[in-house]
Amino acid sequence: MASAKIAIIGGGNLGVAIAQGLVAAKQAKASDILITRRNLSKIQELTKAGFRLSSNNPEAVAGSRIVLLCVQPKQLVGVLDEIMPVLDSKKHVLVSTITGISISEIASHMKQPIAIVRAMPNTAVAVGQSMTCICAQNTSGRQLKSVQALFNALGKTLIIEERLMKAATVLAASGIAFFMRYVRAATQGGIQLGFDSEEAQLIAIQTAKGGASLLLELESHPEMEIDRVTTPEGCTISGLNEMEHQGFSSALIKGIISSFEKINNIRK
Ligand SMILES: NC(=O)c1ccc[n+]([C@@H]2O[C@H](COP(=O)([O-])OP(=O)(O)OC[C@H]3O[C@@H](n4cnc5c(N)ncnc54)[C@H](OP(=O)(O)O)[C@@H]3O)[C@@H](O)[C@H]2O)c1
Repeated sequence: MASAKIAIIGGGNLGVAIAQGLVAAKQAKASDILITRRNLSKIQELTKAGFRLSSNNPEAVAGSRIVLLCVQPKQLVGVLDEIMPVLDSKKHVLVSTITGISISEIASHMKQPIAIVRAMPNTAVAVGQSMTCICAQNTSGRQLKSVQALFNALGKTLIIEERLMKAATVLAASGIAFFMRYVRAATQGGIQLGFDSEEAQLIAIQTAKGGASLLLELESHPEMEIDRVTTPEGCTISGLNEMEHQGFSSALIKGIISSFEKINNIRK
């Protein structure tokens, strides 16, 4: 087997989206990415784009430098047992995207100290717009930079302390679902006002994207942007205040806290 620079262990939703995103962003060649899973028939078409596929995790790891772990939490221990004999502390960086498994839990399965990075992307990885929070242990500045560069190609990244990883999961990964519910509710409001569902959804989505772009590109503050569109006695402030009376901000904050409580109590 020729040398693959990136091994993606677990070619499911996230693993494949990362692989495709890296190639789309020209961060890697498809031929430099080797994707593994047990049932390869489900991703066979990826070979047409030049990706290399295998069911042999140790071989995939041996031929790579960066190893992305993208299996389900319950599958992790089996994978670590398989790849441990070929992990080389001078060569490999392990990058775990697995929710709820700490760096020390992964390190406890290792016979030698290996550079371990945890990355929490969201599903917007598929369109190069992920928000990926990253933390690391036993990792050199150069290793961390090379992992961050991969995820920078898939959206934005933030290096955080590991203690905030669960909060990051709620805010960024579950956050996609929270945002979708906002878009759906805005769409339903638009339909009631006379638009058909496609028109209402387009208006809701592009307005949300425009709002986010104002904050990101102008580095503006939400309250400043709100003040710009709320004229005294106008319709916007009337709607906004009614939403607050109905608990809009409070519902969102309570939902985020509820998700956080749940993630802290999930048994592996
Ligand atoms: N989806 C997200 O938005 C998201 C965001 C952040 C983090 N995560 C984390 O990313 C991980 C993957 O999520 P997902 O949604 O991509 O799950 P998924 O679609 O179920 O993918 C997991 C993949 O792992 C493969 N697999 C299982 N055992 C394996 C083994 N021994 N060797 C090689 N491959 C194996 C499975 O394929 P076979 O059964 O064919 O082997 C499957 O394709 C999870 O731990 C999740 O917590 C997901």
